Amino acid sequence: MEKIILTGDRPTGKLHLGHYVGSLKRRVELQNSGEFDKIFIMIADAQALTDNADNPEKVRQNIIEVALDYLSCGLDPEKCTIFIQSQVPELCELAFYYMNLVTVQRLQRNPTVKQEIQMRGFSDDEENQNKKGTPVGFFTYPISQASDITAFKATTVPVGVDQAPMIEQTREIVHKFNSVYGETLVLPEMVLPENTTCCRLPGTDGKAKMSKSLGNCIYLSDSSKEIKKKVNSMFTDPEHLQITDPGHVEGNVVFTYLDAFCTPDHFAKFLPEYANLDEMKDHYRRGGLGDGTCKKFLFNIMEEFLAPIRERRKVYEQDIPQVFEILRKGSEVARAQAAKTLEEVKDAMKINYFADKDLIAEQAAKYKAK
Ligand code: TRP
Repeated sequence: MEKIILTGDRPTGKLHLGHYVGSLKRRVELQNSGEFDKIFIMIADAQALTDNADNPEKVRQNIIEVALDYLSCGLDPEKCTIFIQSQVPELCELAFYYMNLVTVQRLQRNPTVKQEIQMRGFSDDEENQNKKGTPVGFFTYPISQASDITAFKATTVPVGVDQAPMIEQTREIVHKFNSVYGETLVLPEMVLPENTTCCRLPGTDGKAKMSKSLGNCIYLSDSSKEIKKKVNSMFTDPEHLQITDPGHVEGNVVFTYLDAFCTPDHFAKFLPEYANLDEMKDHYRRGGLGDGTCKKFLFNIMEEFLAPIRERRKVYEQDIPQVFEILRKGSEVARAQAAKTLEEVKDAMKINYFADKDLIAEQAAKYKAK
């Protein structure tokens, strides 16, 4: 069986360091591993519209931002198909049929959907003051996500932990479809990021998650100056007032980021006083190591991997029409693949009436016999 990857992001903002460690880095590695027959990377604009109905312009503006972030991180249009969800209408058609295989009650139990309904103020609970209600499209997005995955016969879906319920839902739909209509759809596996710090990079302010609305992000497109400013204002240890004071590394964002990014090579290059992070942490705990030194070290490490990303982004920014052309071509390739799967689905469901010689003959015979 072919090994196929499908994954994607909602275009609601530029991608940040949290996206990079949580998913982009892995995707580029998987792409370059040569282990996969096909890789589809989707800009999920239709899904983004399920909770941005009042702000379609935000989604429209961010398509190019996400595409630029993809390309600058090293996703290579020669090796993977980058496409825009809304340009593959077959996905909607698949979702429409899958809707009959999922109950409202099942969707209501989806933990990610539940949490997102609360976070977005859609809930109609007693406590919720504005009672906006939940858009039906939003409520059913796990089904649409099952179409995204199955349309490409994806075997492998690299995502963050918050997406686990979507993959589970997809697997249930695949089982149900195949048992009702016969073996047609491919059962996907989810792959999570390896390192747990990587799953969840905190914001620069120490809050659990990097998020645009909290204003605590480091963007892949940030300039060197912006990164320096953000690193220098990072949350550290509020009890570490004098350099000589003992310090805490737990909950200290600078050290969380060092955990995620630094290697012994970085010490040799930028901070040869220590052989590794453990030695550096010990010194910080004892007292005598200042936040300024730690931040400067972190900045050097981040610059080392962000500078080439930034440079590549600049090149693509100079030729935006070409980037749209990459997306157009990718969408064409994706559409052909999704159309093929849709045909197979409709065949399995026996709703391909005009291609169904048996049905026509059968009906003709019935009326002849009358
Ligand atoms: N839900 C994903 C996100 O929030 C985007 C997405 C849409 C996706 N369809 C997908 C991810 C299919 C993996 C597979 O970013």
